[in-house]
Amino acid sequence: AFISLRQMLDHAAEHEYGVPAFNINNMEQLVAIMAAAEKTASPVIIQASRGARAYAGEIMLRKMVEAAVETWPSIPVCMHLDHGDKPATCLSAIQSGFTSVMMDGSLEADGKTPASYDYNVAVTSKVVEMAHAIGVSVEGELGCLGSLETGHGEKEDGHGAEGVLSRDQLLTDPDQAKDFVLRTHVDALAVAIGTSHGAYKFNREPTGDILAMDVVKAIHERLPNTHLVMHGSSSVPQDLQEIFNSYGGAMPQTWGVPVREIQLGIKYGVRKINIDTDCRIAMVGQFRKIATEKKAEFDPRAFMKPAMASLTALCAQRFEEFGTAGQA
Ligand code: G3H
Ligand code: 13P
Ligand code: NA
Ligand code: ZN
Repeated sequence: AFISLRQMLDHAAEHEYGVPAFNINNMEQLVAIMAAAEKTASPVIIQASRGARAYAGEIMLRKMVEAAVETWPSIPVCMHLDHGDKPATCLSAIQSGFTSVMMDGSLEADGKTPASYDYNVAVTSKVVEMAHAIGVSVEGELGCLGSLETGHGEKEDGHGAEGVLSRDQLLTDPDQAKDFVLRTHVDALAVAIGTSHGAYKFNREPTGDILAMDVVKAIHERLPNTHLVMHGSSSVPQDLQEIFNSYGGAMPQTWGVPVREIQLGIKYGVRKINIDTDCRIAMVGQFRKIATEKKAEFDPRAFMKPAMASLTALCAQRFEEFGTAGQA
């Protein structure tokens, strides 16, 4: 059944677990994720970016997720807009059946320029007012995640898209977080703690000087009833990098967010964990493998089936690790 993010995360808080939010663009990703949710009896957040909505089309996305809910009736599903860039985008997602939207007012509508605090409060409040009127939940974001455009290994030094920002300027300020939630009434808050989107987060295994779990703790102390969200939470597992690279891939050695740090985050109030990159690598590693091993193969299903199995295995593992398993 469809449920709102608020309902899902209230349950997660009560029972002290986290829910992964997996990004989808197509039927195969959705089916593979749902198969893992079914196998582990987990609630799940299915999220679509603006890019995903442009790729699959509004109607196709909506009907696919409706089909998933009908196919797996025992699994609670939240359909979430990832990184809404402006109130109009959030409104169109709500009209299209999303049960939750993210208004990312940490950046201006160009998706690049760090926004002022007042701008963020204004656009986020506006979306909350619209969404809450009809039972849709809202995620806001405060602080600067590493830039999507930044190259390999640069973020931990604080070089964002706008040049050099100090580490403290990038991270969410806990006192400001409290003010932000009180003023906007968001259901969930994405915090910046040193992660970034994509595969190239860290050029070594991250430790406390890189990943600011202490900031999560400080925010949770000030906002014990606000659900926190970790973006950029792919772990970029070494074994998936190895499969990718064994079959002709050229992914430079990289490190993501260790699962044990996410588990620590869950102790500090993190309830939604955004994962896209791991899902991509899990699937495309298998495309590479089939393309290499079966050079005469041209049936797309021969590529899709192992790719889906690999994604299902990854998702099932995260449901177990985050304590989501058995909660559906
Ligand atoms: O926020 C980033 C997500 O991984 C979505 O990426 O914009 O390429 O769909 P995308
Ligand atoms: P990853 O790139 O680490 O998977 O993060 C995804 C994300 O935060 C989507 O909003
Ligand atoms: Na999101
Ligand atoms: Zn994100």
